[in-house]
Amino acid sequence: MNKKSLYVTTPIYYPNDNLHIGHTYCTIAVDTYKKFKTYQGYDVFFTTGTDEHGQKLEDKAGENGYDNPLDYIDPIVASAKDLWKSLDIHYDAFVRSTDKAHEKNVQDIFQKLYDKGDIYKGEYEGYYCTPCESFWTETQVGEDHICPDCGREVSLAKEETYFFRLSKYRERLLQYYKDNPNFIMPKSREHEMVNNFLKDGLDDLSVTRSSFSWGVKVPFDPKHVVYVWIDALSCYLTAIGYGTDEEKFNRLWPASTHFVGKEIVRFHTIIWPALLMALDLELPKQVFGHGWILFDNEKMSKSKKNIFYPEPIVEAYGVDSLKYFLLREFTFGQDGSFTREKFLNRLNSDLANDLGNLLSRTVSMVEKYSDGIINEPGAYEAVDEDLKNVATSILDKVNEKMEVYDFSGSLEDIWSLIRRTNKYVDETEPWVVAKDENKERINTILYNLCESLRIISNLLYPLLTETSLKIRDQLGLNDLPKIEDANVWGLTKAGTKVKKSEIIFPRLNVKVEMEEMVKRNDALIKEREEEKKAPGFKGEAEGLEDDKKAEITLEDFDKLDIRMGTVKKCIDHPNADRLYVLTVDIGSKDITIVTNLKSKYSIEEMEGRKLFVLYNLKPHNFRGIDSEGMLLAAEDEDGNLDLLTVKKELRNGAKVE
Ligand code: MSP
Repeated sequence: MNKKSLYVTTPIYYPNDNLHIGHTYCTIAVDTYKKFKTYQGYDVFFTTGTDEHGQKLEDKAGENGYDNPLDYIDPIVASAKDLWKSLDIHYDAFVRSTDKAHEKNVQDIFQKLYDKGDIYKGEYEGYYCTPCESFWTETQVGEDHICPDCGREVSLAKEETYFFRLSKYRERLLQYYKDNPNFIMPKSREHEMVNNFLKDGLDDLSVTRSSFSWGVKVPFDPKHVVYVWIDALSCYLTAIGYGTDEEKFNRLWPASTHFVGKEIVRFHTIIWPALLMALDLELPKQVFGHGWILFDNEKMSKSKKNIFYPEPIVEAYGVDSLKYFLLREFTFGQDGSFTREKFLNRLNSDLANDLGNLLSRTVSMVEKYSDGIINEPGAYEAVDEDLKNVATSILDKVNEKMEVYDFSGSLEDIWSLIRRTNKYVDETEPWVVAKDENKERINTILYNLCESLRIISNLLYPLLTETSLKIRDQLGLNDLPKIEDANVWGLTKAGTKVKKSEIIFPRLNVKVEMEEMVKRNDALIKEREEEKKAPGFKGEAEGLEDDKKAEITLEDFDKLDIRMGTVKKCIDHPNADRLYVLTVDIGSKDITIVTNLKSKYSIEEMEGRKLFVLYNLKPHNFRGIDSEGMLLAAEDEDGNLDLLTVKKELRNGAKVE
């Protein structure tokens, strides 16, 4: 492999649901690492993708009313790609495990292993956790039959299966760990693998399933499908041309680092290397198991109802706010808790106060005391030398920390310069110097402030790209930052004109934003739940129990302002595939209502329709459009839905009493 080439991967995500903040963590980290290594001059290839086969996906699609799982999966994959785009993630390959080229690779790999005698037929009897797609033994699931990874109940599986001779590779695996002490990182994860899975022997692995059909068919026995983990891990090979582009494959393989969450380290450090040994392929140099982002001390997951989606956060606070928080707040190898308060406080203290404020006051002072021009500095005093020394010392530290994926430490180092520069302002008091009309000294101070910010932007470029470019724009710098300029003082040219523009990180009202974050997130969860169901599908019949809501009084009812209206116009929502935007005449005026009735009614059926509107509902923003009311409709257990209306022609504005 070319010395300067690197091959890095994130996991191949299950598209059983939209990706949440926990999923973005690894992808943001790997993308940042790629950007940093590219900045250093490496040629980095970055793979991600979606793991689309298996029982979990088949079940999930069925639960939502789809016969063909792809109909359920496709929109989720599209939303994942949109998400990566909005987060400025620069992957080089996105492999869908349902891509034909990949399916062919999986079959070829399976056949190779079979021909070699590493796969044999038998019967599996044991436990299976469908959400984790993992097999477990009696001892591992314990008396309560609980999955050791996710804590959910496992099911007993007994079926004819093909086994992979995993046991045969135990000694070689242990030897590989010994010979390559950096293979499993952090080191503690290696101990876990050895003690929990390898020390007392290793069972052969069941690598096919025959109780469902959503998967890659075994080429020589098509009633079996290949175990989803064999399928998913092989995506790392497909991505770089395995089976199709030998030159590319040889250039990029073996992977430099597979970045994965801690619970899937064992698949990457036991099953994966054993498979590669069986295929006579080189083993990856490293597997890094990062920690989880917890929410109330639990792993973020839909089943625990503690999901935070990244989209509303990025929309409200910008991509760098989310990136900064995730990379700065958590130590990459360890778990950490996500709370709205921590997030907003970091935005206020580090981004708005420390960085945003430094930029805005520096540029303002250059405008005020120097007509917007950065002039040649004069003689240096001790305080100037100190700032210069600190500024030129940061790159070495960041280089060192990024080598071990210490994103938090790297940002902390850059922030030490930001804070030093803020202190420099307090120490030099440019407003006093300006009053004294000491031209040379004010020029020196302002130059140093701009130069320090220029270095900050060079350091930040691979980590917070958008912010780095915004800083440069205000400093009047037109070139792209280069790493070799990040520890050199004095590169800002005298005569450069600054350009004051918007505050890059406005201060937020934490209390207000805490509520807003929940509202936006809840609205998106609701919208997505609706969007996921097949058209006309309601879900399992819930039975006709009397689920009466809590009693209300007449005064409570009186608070509802329900009026008759007519739909004057119905158009597709510009930003949401499943929503309409209606203009409804309610007698006194026209109002806008966003509704999810698109799967039920055509535009023609909506326009001209008389219906009832709850008018005094607090307006709610759906993907950029404020909805000023809600239509009243009734729906039965079979998903039959109709809008409420009355037989007699009533004038718009008639009230329900
Ligand atoms: N499809 C498998 C991976 C196959 S790789 C050949 C899978 N998919 S997953 O979608 O369930 O998880 C993908 C990654 O997201 C895992 O590394 C997992 O640890 C990570 N995360 C999911 N929730 C997370 C948090 N709350 N926090 C951090 N990472 C988390 O496993």
